[in-house]
Amino acid sequence: MQHVAPISTFRAPLFVPGDDWRKIEKAAALDVDAILLDLEDGVALNRKAEARQTIAAALREVAFGRSARVVRINSLDSPFWREDLAAILPAAPDALMLPKTASADQIAALTALVGALPLIAIVESGHGLINIGAIASASGVTSLAFGAEDYAADIGAQRTPGGDEVLMARSTVVLHAKVNRLAALDTPYIDLHDLDGLRADARRALTLGFTGKLAIHPRQIDVLHEVFTPTAEEIDRASRLIAAHDAQQASGSGVFAFEGRMIDMPLVRAAEQVMERARAAGISPSA
Ligand code: COA
Ligand code: MG
Repeated sequence: MQHVAPISTFRAPLFVPGDDWRKIEKAAALDVDAILLDLEDGVALNRKAEARQTIAAALREVAFGRSARVVRINSLDSPFWREDLAAILPAAPDALMLPKTASADQIAALTALVGALPLIAIVESGHGLINIGAIASASGVTSLAFGAEDYAADIGAQRTPGGDEVLMARSTVVLHAKVNRLAALDTPYIDLHDLDGLRADARRALTLGFTGKLAIHPRQIDVLHEVFTPTAEEIDRASRLIAAHDAQQASGSGVFAFEGRMIDMPLVRAAEQVMERARAAGISPSA
């Protein structure tokens, strides 16, 4: 059996409506890190039952290669989630995604039924953000995701191209993910045709500390992989900086000059994070 990509390495997990067999098959052939089979808002209310059956069949019959198979169930304050689990769990998904996560109690209610199955918790409401400390440290949660559209709707903010209205929430999601050593996935970019806008928004997410960004269309995948994979030059520089640091430490100096810039521990840690992202992207640096 092929090895499935671990959640910490997701750079561009792709949403697919759970009732659309054709898109599920297309997604499975794309060689993405993960496919997010949606039962929530990408599926009409009168198609939930059909989507459950379609996803269960796809999990059993479709060859997903190295793509992790993640099912986004409906939120725990909806009437749907128990039936979602009943249909999906016997077909053995690799992970679950919980939308509108509002509290650690919801995580506990879910893990009581799903055991050790990894959970990606989407924080996309005022309550979710207020309770994010407990959510991020709850057992079973392996990743946090941010949903900007739902969050903005929940608090009555208006979306702008610059995203000032969601900056605090975005950064808070990164903060809690990183403190708990979780992956952090940024909100999808909903303009399907604006790849320059997607690239700028993904770069912004990268600079804030996100490890990947949710994708909603196949054409977004290449851009997201490009943004969230360190370049060969970045990797080369990081590995030389770490080597120089090790040599300086051995000779007893904590601070030193490297290519004309002062280097001390924070910059060494940043270089180590570049190497971590490279390894997560499946690149094994020679040095
Ligand atoms: N996964 C797999 N295949 C997809 C896809 C996706 N997310 N989005 C589009 N495609 C396929 C289409 O089926 C189409 O294939 P075809 O040419 O063989 O028929 C091709 O890519 C081009 O699609 P396009 O015409 O550009 O888009 P569309 O109008 O069919 O679909 C969306 C637009 C937004 C409905 C679609 O991208 C989608 O369903 N995205 C995911 C939405 C979702 O799950 N949202 C919930 C979470 S936010
Ligand atoms: Mg949503």
